[in-house]
Formats: sequence, C-alpha cells, structure tokens
Amino acid sequence: MTDLVVHDAAQVATPTVDSDLETIRDGAVAIEDSVVVAVGPTDEVVREHPPENATAAIDASGKTVLPGFVDSHTHAMFAGDRADEFTAKLRGATYQDILTEGGGILRTVRATREASHEQLVENLLGHLDVMLAHGTTTVEVKSGYGLDVETEVKMLEAIAEADERHSMDVVPTFMGAHAVPKDTDADAYVDRVIEEQIPAVAADDLAEFCDVFCEAGVFSVEHSRRILKAGREHGLKPKIHADEFERLGGAQVAAEVGATSADHLLQSTAEDITALGDADVTPVLLPGTAFALATEYADAKAFEAANIPVAIATDFNPNCFSQSMEFAIDLACNGMRMSPASAIRSATATAAEAIDRTDGTGTLREDSPGDLVVADVPDYEHLPYNFGVQNVQTVVKRGEVVRRD
Ligand code: NIG
Ligand code: FE
Repeated sequence: MTDLVVHDAAQVATPTVDSDLETIRDGAVAIEDSVVVAVGPTDEVVREHPPENATAAIDASGKTVLPGFVDSHTHAMFAGDRADEFTAKLRGATYQDILTEGGGILRTVRATREASHEQLVENLLGHLDVMLAHGTTTVEVKSGYGLDVETEVKMLEAIAEADERHSMDVVPTFMGAHAVPKDTDADAYVDRVIEEQIPAVAADDLAEFCDVFCEAGVFSVEHSRRILKAGREHGLKPKIHADEFERLGGAQVAAEVGATSADHLLQSTAEDITALGDADVTPVLLPGTAFALATEYADAKAFEAANIPVAIATDFNPNCFSQSMEFAIDLACNGMRMSPASAIRSATATAAEAIDRTDGTGTLREDSPGDLVVADVPDYEHLPYNFGVQNVQTVVKRGEVVRRD
C-alpha cells in the first residue's frame, strides 16, 4: 500500500540530470516503503495511487513541493553561544581579533569541554528541530570544539545519539583540526590529530568525513594535506575549509587528495575553480557566513561560468547562528545573485553530492528517498522572492510527515 500521496500541488519542482529544476504543474508525489514511487501530474499519479487508499495524504493545493533540503556544512554540535561577540563585531571587532583574544572558536571549545554528553545531545536535538522546520531533511554536523581526543569523541558520540533520536539524517564529520588549542602549536597539534584523534574516531566508526580549517594562522596547506591523507587511510573521506580569508591553496589540496567537497572558497581563483571541477570536488558556498561577517560573498557566478555546480549550506555555528536553509537560499539569490532554480538545486541535489549521498537524495524521482517539503508558495521562484520568512509548512522524511505547521 502507498504510504503517502502528496497531490494537487500548484507545482512540484525537482533537480534532474539535465536541468536545475524541472517543474510539474498540478503535480503529485507518491511514496512507498520510504522511497518515491511516482512523480507526475496529479491525475496520473492518483490513478495508480489513490489518496483515499494511502496511509496518509496531503492536499497541497496552491503550494509547492520540493525535495527536502540538504545542509551539507554545519558546526551544529557545540555548547553555549557567543551573542556578546555578535555585538562586539557590530562595534567593529573582527572575527580574527576575537579569536586572537581567546574568544571565538576557543571559547566554544571551553564550553563544549565542560558540557555533558546529555547536554550536547539535547542542544543538537533543539537545533535539528529548527533546521527541520525550515525544510532540512539531511544535515552534516562536524565535531571540532573539543580539540582533544576525549571531547572530539564525546561530540561525535552525541551526534550519533542525536541522529538516532531525530527523524533527520545526520552525517558526522570529524574536525579535530578546527583550531589550534591554547596549550600547543600547530605542528605539535597536527601530530596529535593524526596519532590520537583520527585512530580513535575511526576505531569506533564515529565519522564519515574528516575536515580541516586550512587558513592563515590556523592550519597550513602541508598540515591539511597530512591530516586529510591520514584520515583517508583510516576510511574518513576528506573535506576542507579552503580559501576563506586568505588564498593559501586549500582548493588545490582538495583537488590533490580527491576531497568530496571544498568549502567557503571566497578567495578562490579561476585556476582553483578549474582544479576543483577537474577533480570532481563539490564546491560548497556559505553565504550566511559572509552575511554574518559582513564580508563579500563567494563568487557564485565564477563557478557558474565554469559550468561547475555548487552546493550552498548554512555553516550554522556560534558565529553564524542560522539553522535555516530557507535563509541560505534567500542569501544565495539576494546576496550571490544566483537564480532561484540554481539556488534550490544547490540546496538539494548538489548539496547531496557534497556529502556523497548518491541515492537520489535531493531529488524527487522514482527510487529517491521520500524526503520532501511542502512550501506555502505558488511556485519555487516565490521561495527566495518572499525572503526572510518561513515558507516551509510540511516536512516529510522517508515517507513520514515529521513536521506540519
Ligand atoms: O566555518 N571557519 C571555521 N569554522 C567555522 C566557524 C566556527 C566558529 O566561529 O565557531 C566556519 O565559519
Ligand atoms: Fe565551517
């Protein structure tokens, strides 16, 4: 029996192989055993899958159905917040000033070390609820506020428990190389990441990816290369924070080690963009971070000109405190000047590539996971056009309605 039929939608929109978004007017989606079994015009879909015979049905009249959003870059596992730093930044302090004074990441490290496993799980579950309300059905979450083996493992264990307890799929990334802890220098700390943290994380199968903050004053190109290669030897797929404030060459490292994604890329050159494309590394742009730091946005148009699809993600963290993929899509359009169709593709199908989900996640076609959102807009263009509000009303994960406004 059909588990769920969403019918009479003003529009169903999904990325396809050939287009950013293909649209169906008066569309419907049927889901069985948690996967999509039919997508098409309502009259055709309901002939085969009558809503009255399905376990559940949603009348989406006047609304738009899209694949669930994939947030492929977050630091959602942390304790405390840094609202006062937000105010300090508005008075003129820079992100780097705050970090040098022991604030920023290092302050969140202190709070996260002190937090219990249960507190960390509860914090993350709260953030996942907000993400879900804004349409995210799959999210990547990094560790990286531990910077010692105990806390990094504690964070990843808390991520695993939150994944089990929440309807959203949570993809764990180990990011021990997020900052250099106060008691040591970068060279010595990289040794600890490689010798202690990566083996411990891999031994308990706690992460799928290994990420590193390749940045001036943090980890060099050589540090990043060593860490990502060591991670790969332990079965962790590489990801990298590259070329955010300075162009150190992180994008080139991503290409060299065959990273799944390279993220931020604000300073990347045409040569870097080509290297990422040639090596099949998915670029991830994070417009919320630029917005929160009031800096320039990454050059989405340069990637588009090179014909390389990008993912967009929230980068949710204590410095960029937005869990909303709806807002990331708004900023991709209003800040980076992406078209609504490519912004939505970047938040769905391409975002799934950035976390190596190749089972159709981020699309609505036969056999893709039954993850979708119903937004209270007449077509997809209205989603970023009507920015700064919650357009997502209903969220379906694996065929189950997990959120309804
Ligand atoms: O992606 N760049 C490094 N990490 C985060 C910021 C984390 C923080 O400030 O707590 C980022 O922007
Ligand atoms: Fe980040």
